[in-house]
Amino acid sequence: MRIAIIGTGNVGSALARGLKGKGHDLWLGAREPGTVAALAAETGAKAALPRDAAAAADLVILSLPWGVAEAAVAALGDLSGKVVVDCMNPIGRTAQGMGLTHGHTTSGAEIVQGWLPKARVVKTLNQVGAEIMADTSVLPHRPVMFMAGNDEAAKSQVAQVLADLGFEPLDAGDLTKARYLEPFAMVWINQAIFRAKGRNWAFAAVSAT
Ligand SMILES: NC(=O)c1ccc[n+]([C@@H]2O[C@H](COP(=O)([O-])OP(=O)(O)OC[C@H]3O[C@@H](n4cnc5c(N)ncnc54)[C@H](OP(=O)(O)O)[C@@H]3O)[C@@H](O)[C@H]2O)c1
Repeated sequence: MRIAIIGTGNVGSALARGLKGKGHDLWLGAREPGTVAALAAETGAKAALPRDAAAAADLVILSLPWGVAEAAVAALGDLSGKVVVDCMNPIGRTAQGMGLTHGHTTSGAEIVQGWLPKARVVKTLNQVGAEIMADTSVLPHRPVMFMAGNDEAAKSQVAQVLADLGFEPLDAGDLTKARYLEPFAMVWINQAIFRAKGRNWAFAAVSAT
């Protein structure tokens, strides 16, 4: 697949490393492409401006801070028909401190779909820390990664990407189910950061035989 990673911080660089050597044509979208030259060399990706990376890809991963996402997405140009993977958690200041700024009646992913009505948005890769996305082989069990989206063909493509990263892809349903997946990310964040569990773990789906 031709995959553009827009935002090459913790998550974007982890995904580039996790997808290295999996047969994809990887593009790193950075505002200053020169700053990601080393990551591009390490992962075999091409570094480009975000708009050019998105134009070159069929599947565009958004790994941006929520606060800049609307403007950054608008700057990507026409994403009609493309699969857009939303890894972002809409975290910001709330009356209770830092937390999800959307939920119950909408989600970050549905807001992204509203910005990009002709793209096929899939929510996923928001549920564990970036380190695990780079290398799931450190885990004794295959970790699970839920996805939500309205387009079945898009979810099939995303499921392949998740499998390439070493996750068991599980379909949570249509894009409104992002309202479950974004709070689910807060379960991981709460354990990792506020309950001192650390970052080197993930969720697994375990079934009786
Ligand atoms: N960190 C995690 O473990 C984790 C796990 C799951 C989900 N998430 C979610 O993933 C998203 C990214 O998190 P992160 O930790 O990877 O963030 P990060 O390390 O701060 O990286 C954000 C990236 O976005 C780029 N960026 C910022 N403003 C931009 C703009 N206007 N246009 C284009 N690119 C821009 C930054 O580029 P510059 O370097 O040029 O500033 C940077 O590469 C967040 O929504 C977060 O909630 C994070």
